[in-house]
Amino acid sequence: MASATQTASGPLIPQHIAETVFSAKSYTDDAVIYDAFKWLRENMPLGIAEVEGFDPVWVVTRHADIRQVEKDAKLFHNADFNPILNDRASDAFTREMTGGSVSGLASLTYMDPPVHQQYRMLTANWFLPGKISKLEDQIRVLARQSVEHFLSFDGECDFVRDFALHYPLRVIMTLFGVPPEDEPKMLKLTQEFFGGHDPEEQRAELREDPIVAAKMWAATLEDFFQYFDALAEKRRAEPQDDLLTLIANSRINGSPIGRDEANGYFVAIATAGHDTTSSSVAGGMHGMIAFPENFAKVKADPALIPGLVDEAIRWTSPVKHFMRNATQDTEVGGQLIRSMDRLMICYPSGNRDEAVFEHPDRFDITRSPNRHVAFGFGPHMCLGQHLAKLEMRILFEELLPHLAAVELAGSPKLVETNFVGGYKSLPIRFRKA
Ligand code: HEM
Repeated sequence: MASATQTASGPLIPQHIAETVFSAKSYTDDAVIYDAFKWLRENMPLGIAEVEGFDPVWVVTRHADIRQVEKDAKLFHNADFNPILNDRASDAFTREMTGGSVSGLASLTYMDPPVHQQYRMLTANWFLPGKISKLEDQIRVLARQSVEHFLSFDGECDFVRDFALHYPLRVIMTLFGVPPEDEPKMLKLTQEFFGGHDPEEQRAELREDPIVAAKMWAATLEDFFQYFDALAEKRRAEPQDDLLTLIANSRINGSPIGRDEANGYFVAIATAGHDTTSSSVAGGMHGMIAFPENFAKVKADPALIPGLVDEAIRWTSPVKHFMRNATQDTEVGGQLIRSMDRLMICYPSGNRDEAVFEHPDRFDITRSPNRHVAFGFGPHMCLGQHLAKLEMRILFEELLPHLAAVELAGSPKLVETNFVGGYKSLPIRFRKA
């Protein structure tokens, strides 16, 4: 395990920009966070952020540099340090809890080659596009139920709370094998897991704690583990045709998968498997409202729906960062990166890079190619990307024919997070077709 304090040296990012990029609050206001990223791309695409209480880290903001770092998982590790940006006090708390490791979770995100590949292979086949496409009919039934519920509102609703939060949750929990009555528990735990910096998601007893987010993380993990221990046991005793059964009964080097590794998988899928997709669905609707020519275009030509899906994911970028560390001296974007320096990969910035996307702040479903990095890149690239895109396409195919017009009925609200999140609320007014 690497030591807590790092000493990266290179061009220093102005203090207010560094604090903006680290602060969970900045991500509730697109104007604030995207201005900071734009400044960095133009002036210091590889610069060091030194913020009180944190290790100094390189902030990577250009599309090309993000891909360069992400594509080589041997040169840039996820897990010698925490792959999520935390302050030192939070990392110290995690070390104390785990007996020395900053990784509280044995999921793919916390693994490096060659172990990462071994664990990824356990489910890689299940997530292949050809396999996923066989689920289309099953997913369409869920999409229709969800759209029916949406149409029960009389021309006005909160598109996130009343609609977008529930369908991706339904889809992943159905395929995963979590019973429908436990979905509210999974949603609540996910919101607490990702929303540890957001006062509206924090548990009352932890709200005043200086490292509230780290403690929320540990508390939700405990609840998740307790839940999945029991469910995995059931699936070992009585295997079903679901993803949970596949993971619970899998083997590594001839031995049954360990408890921590199984739980790491379960938690990753139970959290990343819906929150990101719900945000992207909401972002797609918001994008069409903010740039209404897209709504007209896709209504006239449903063949544009896959383009809508890609653009919704790019424009929303629900995963805000992951961290890497260099395993040897190397160069990125003209800067010398020393072995064990830490790097913060800023996906939303890569997705607004003018060098790759024309008018990047514009929502444009006809963008082609749309080479966004919202799913990451390289060996850790999102395992669930084909499922996310399939379920979003099906949802828009089912929803759009019923919508004649849509507009904002209030201000959208975003989750306070520098890690994973997006829309908390999107009040809309709509006319049915
Ligand atoms: C629009 C929806 C989604 C977005 C934007 C998204 C984004 C991401 C990103 C940025 C990463 C990190 C990639 C990297 O380090 O290079 C990731 C990893 C991951 N995602 Fe997703 N994701 C989405 C949906 C899903 C779904 C539906 C699932 C599961 C059913 C899922 C499961 C995972 C897992 C297990 C990993 C870890 C992969 C690894 O480290 O090998 N994601 N995702």
